[in-house]
Amino acid sequence: MTHNLRLRPMTPADKPAIMQVLKGTPEFTPAEVTIAEEVIDTYLGDPKGSGYYVLVAEIDSSLAGYICYGPVPMTQDTWDIYWIAVLPESQRLGIGKSLLSSAEERIRKARGRMALIETSSTKQYEKARQFYRSQGYELASIIDDFYSPGDDGLIFKKLLL
Ligand SMILES: CC(C)(COP(=O)(O)OP(=O)(O)OC[C@H]1O[C@@H](n2cnc3c(N)ncnc32)[C@H](O)[C@@H]1OP(=O)(O)O)[C@@H](O)C(=O)NCCC(=O)NCCS
Repeated sequence: MTHNLRLRPMTPADKPAIMQVLKGTPEFTPAEVTIAEEVIDTYLGDPKGSGYYVLVAEIDSSLAGYICYGPVPMTQDTWDIYWIAVLPESQRLGIGKSLLSSAEERIRKARGRMALIETSSTKQYEKARQFYRSQGYELASIIDDFYSPGDDGLIFKKLLL
């Protein structure tokens, strides 16, 4: 666990730094960065009513990562972790773990029952899969060829209550 780590809800002033995190994450394609930006803009347009929540992690006041999550529409208290990313140079310091556990704590307070995370089966997402497993998530479903032929969609699940 790194010292001087602070987690807090995102503010509009954080957007450029979050875009740097997204653009500096080699796993994300330009199309994925565009969608992540749209989600962030939706959140900033209406932080309380958008259905998205965004937390940022700062080390020594410098933004090092973020997480975006929210309730899944048309479910009773099921939540989705939509996005999590930590700057490559700040990975493996416990920042992802702190972001995810803070999101889970807030979801629990909102009476969320379970958290889901979708990801890809490709090699580049291996560390993300290891990270989710290390945080108590279990593989709940596989949709063969979901993203593209040979790239399955995986859903990881964790019960929170
Ligand atoms: C997935 C990600 C958010 C993890 O963040 P992180 O801050 O590096 O993770 P942590 O330091 O909190 O790691 C917690 C645990 O997860 C596991 N883990 C994390 N990175 C790992 C890796 N590269 N290889 C194996 N296990 C890993 C370990 O068990 C680790 O505990 P340890 O360091 O004590 O062994 C980060 O790797 C990332 O931003 N990846 C690129 C973006 C991405 O793929 N996001 C997910 C899809 S939206």
